[in-house]
Amino acid sequence: MKKVTKAVIPAAGLGTRFLPATKALPKEMLPVVDTPTIQYIVDEAQKSGIEDIVIVIGKGKRSIEDHFDSNVMLEDNLEKKGKLELLDSIKKTNNMNIYFIRQSYPRGLGDAVLTARSFIGDEPFVVMLGDDLMKSKVPLTKQLMDSYEKTGNSTLSVMRVPHDDTSKYGVIDPESKIDEGLYNVNSFVEKPNPDDAPSDLAIIGRYLLTPEIFDILKKTKPGKGNEIQLTDAINTLNQTQRVSAYEFTGNRYDTGNKLSWLETNIEFGLNRPSIKEELKQYIKDLANSFDN
Ligand code: UTP
Repeated sequence: MKKVTKAVIPAAGLGTRFLPATKALPKEMLPVVDTPTIQYIVDEAQKSGIEDIVIVIGKGKRSIEDHFDSNVMLEDNLEKKGKLELLDSIKKTNNMNIYFIRQSYPRGLGDAVLTARSFIGDEPFVVMLGDDLMKSKVPLTKQLMDSYEKTGNSTLSVMRVPHDDTSKYGVIDPESKIDEGLYNVNSFVEKPNPDDAPSDLAIIGRYLLTPEIFDILKKTKPGKGNEIQLTDAINTLNQTQRVSAYEFTGNRYDTGNKLSWLETNIEFGLNRPSIKEELKQYIKDLANSFDN
């Protein structure tokens, strides 16, 4: 079985749920406390043992490339001023094995993954959505890689969501339990009406896929929203190769929508020692002022 060493991070979407902020700024660059979302995702890839990362970008996404490049003027300035901690923080992202591909038009997540075909070649790989943060002791990507080593199956990560929220996600129709938290899947349903949802297990932003997905993606016609849906291609893959679903039990933060992005900032802020106490006090005072 080939080892998983590569990751694709699609980041070429329009981010319409976050307008007007995303008119000129990629949503993947929106900070959580002081770090762009996409950097947390790159960190997760590296902590999971991924060696090469390709980020799919598009029009207006230049700042993502710049973020993972060096900035000599800024580095000199911080060095001269003796701001060594900040210097380390910006140099951290200079020498990662990150490549960039352009998706010429945002035709959907499936199409974004397809642009990475030559980079991936004939190997299993992971897809990590550029706006979906995961927090757990063992990174979710690593958990998927470990599961793949046991089963050899393409594996999607899923999470239990409130039943009424199923219409916001791709949802799985589980067939049987293979192991604790690991399912065989009958089908994947894109954004079902809660009345028709086959389960409460929603697909979240980490996928481990075998390279056979590329031939299928090439033939996949636009589906919901007139976009080439990765879920549609995975459904087709599941007809010929077993696709499993792995239940994630850590925390997930969708930074692509306004409310969740704000919540994420508050939670991550409360975990950041340098601002934690003041932020906690601010939230308490604010809540009291609303009570009165
Ligand atoms: P989303 O559906 O969350 O992103 O796709 P979006 O289309 O940018 O968001 P809204 O709905 O308009 O607010 C998940 C990930 O896939 C990427 C996005 O950048 C995001 O990180 N994506 C989506 C692409 O790279 N290309 C696409 O054509 C669509």
